[in-house]
Amino acid sequence: MNSMNDDGTDFRRRPVSFVRRSARLSTGQQRAWDNYSGRFLIDIPRGRADTSVDPGYVLDPAVVFGREAPLVVEVGSGAGEAVIHAAARHPDVNFLAIEVYTPGLAQTLMQIGRQELTNVRLIQANAPEMLTTALPAASVRELWVFFPDPWHKNRHHKRRLVSPHFASLAARVLEPAGLWRLATDWAGYARVMRNAVDASDEFTNLHPGPGTGAVPAGGWAPRFEGRVMTSFEKKALDAGRTVHDLTYRRKPD
Ligand SMILES: C[S@@+](CC[C@H](N)C(=O)[O-])C[C@H]1O[C@@H](n2cnc3c(N)ncnc32)[C@H](O)[C@@H]1O
Repeated sequence: MNSMNDDGTDFRRRPVSFVRRSARLSTGQQRAWDNYSGRFLIDIPRGRADTSVDPGYVLDPAVVFGREAPLVVEVGSGAGEAVIHAAARHPDVNFLAIEVYTPGLAQTLMQIGRQELTNVRLIQANAPEMLTTALPAASVRELWVFFPDPWHKNRHHKRRLVSPHFASLAARVLEPAGLWRLATDWAGYARVMRNAVDASDEFTNLHPGPGTGAVPAGGWAPRFEGRVMTSFEKKALDAGRTVHDLTYRRKPD
């Protein structure tokens, strides 16, 4: 893979972890978008695509939330069930949801409005670009990646979000001792995630597995009690799949 495009930029030299899906909104979603996107969806400068991020842009959390508070970032927040549930229980924490899917963002806005939450902001963007340049280094107390798309086919594995490269981006934005929480219902991807982050010298697995050697047998965390049971997770459990959680602590520099 070349490191640069012909125009001297490195715009999206890595495949993105999402596909374009219909942006059609239901009447209720459209109403939520109209009523709440101005206040809660952060309008960021773009690069070459509408989910891209201008690499010169740096977000100031104190400005976008209007206060200083610990920051939790959820990547791929879907319909926002996890972030909304947590934000309602932790009004003293700022929650930033990064998602590309317009109906999911609209659904999240609807819940922000219904529950009158003031501590959630949304960004419609490709998350790795946000983590590469837009989020300040060491600004995030917790990073959440719950049920990222598994991209089953071998030829699609390169599209998976969690990788050694993504681990280096997570390490950049997390505060020293900040936590990275992950969950997936696909056993193969769970092992890939664990091996990628275990191999990084920037993270400590808080639940190291038994055994020795390059690939320990365990490493799974207990289910994160702050993660609400989403319809997505319920469907996976109903289909007989096991959910694996992982929790890592960012090592101090
Ligand atoms: C399988 S869904 C899980 C949604 C949610 N976390 C849940 O547990 O219900 C994965 C979500 O990640 C989003 N996504 C995938 N790649 C992304 C990226 N690079 N940046 C932002 N969002 C992304 C997708 O649009 C989708 O909504």
